Amino acid sequence: SQPLRLGIAGLGTVGTGVVKIVRQKANLLSMRAGRPIEITAVSARSRSKDRGININHYAWEDDPVVLAQRDDVDVFVELMGGSDGPAKAATEAAIAAGKDVVTANKALLAHHGQALALSAEEAGRVIRFEAAVAGGIPVIKALTEGLAGNEITRVMGVMNGTCNYILTRMQSAGLPYDVVFEEANQLGYLEADPTLDVGGIDAGHKLSLLASIAFGTQVDFGAVELEGIERITIQDIHHAADLGFRIKLLGVCQMTGRGLEQRMSPCLVPAESPLGQLEGGTNMCVLEGDMVEQIVLRGPGAGEGPTASAVMGDVMDIARGFRVSTFGMPAAELSAAKPAQAVTP
Ligand code: NAP
Ligand code: HSE
Repeated sequence: SQPLRLGIAGLGTVGTGVVKIVRQKANLLSMRAGRPIEITAVSARSRSKDRGININHYAWEDDPVVLAQRDDVDVFVELMGGSDGPAKAATEAAIAAGKDVVTANKALLAHHGQALALSAEEAGRVIRFEAAVAGGIPVIKALTEGLAGNEITRVMGVMNGTCNYILTRMQSAGLPYDVVFEEANQLGYLEADPTLDVGGIDAGHKLSLLASIAFGTQVDFGAVELEGIERITIQDIHHAADLGFRIKLLGVCQMTGRGLEQRMSPCLVPAESPLGQLEGGTNMCVLEGDMVEQIVLRGPGAGEGPTASAVMGDVMDIARGFRVSTFGMPAAELSAAKPAQAVTP
């Protein structure tokens, strides 16, 4: 049977993980998909960087836009990052060239995901992005597939592992924010622009995508009420603990009588609750629907293996011929849907 041929742009933490899975699990993937999954071409900024993987088997392109248009690529896998620039240009080029797209790029999607999904649909292609929200947790699949028969009433959770690490470490070690922030930096947890993490922006991007998927409203990152964790002090942590609470950067989206509420902010949660017990870089998504009441998904929200796992889930769906957009509804209908109204809680 015909192999599914991947072109991967970005060979950092996530891209390297995807290459490893495709190489190391070739038989398993082929058996499950009913066809081989192959990488034909790759791109990154530096060709000579030691990445701990052998990329000599693959064609090299300096320019991800060129990679995205290659005849021997069926699926463009965008793992560079950034809401604009090469990630956007190459994704648009891939769709225009008739490729399906898989990406982990929540910044790109929060700003342009809906337009990209519409272009893809008009071209008869799909764009899938499970890895963009909560890393290894298949939360988008849960919402769009398993819970498709539910009216979703609320989605909430911890969606940024770095902030959860900082807050739990302040709590457990009794250390102030600045010290733990520097620790997170040394451990390589922070995004290149740390404000994305600690300012709640990264988690806000993820929430805006989940809100659209859950409630069928247009993606509206600008409507997310955002507050980061930069101003949380060790005294706040201690006072919360004295009252039996933990402070978490919690995302909540729910439909109210006045419109869609989306907020990402530090919240008090009971210390003994599943959210209160969530440690380190772990994420948790709580999904509420009229048929299931509540489903809780907990797992690794970042890192090479978990994020590559989610990317491969999307690749496998495409290999099996699953043609539904990740937004869980036709992109044309999503574009005609209500915009998410900014509702102040
Ligand atoms: P990363 O380690 O910084 O890797 C980025 C890769 O993109 C690098 O290989 C870099 O090349 C390449 N790149 C950057 N600009 C490029 C350009 N103009 N042309 C070609 N290649 C370019 O990033 P990452 O952590 O793997 O993240 C990738 C994506 O996944 C991002 O959208 C991120 O938000 C998302 N994501 C990451 C995680 C995570 O845990 N890391 C989790 C969920 C989602 P060089 O290596 O040569 O510099
Ligand atoms: N910076 C993000 C986090 C990476 O800490 O959760 C995964 O999206």
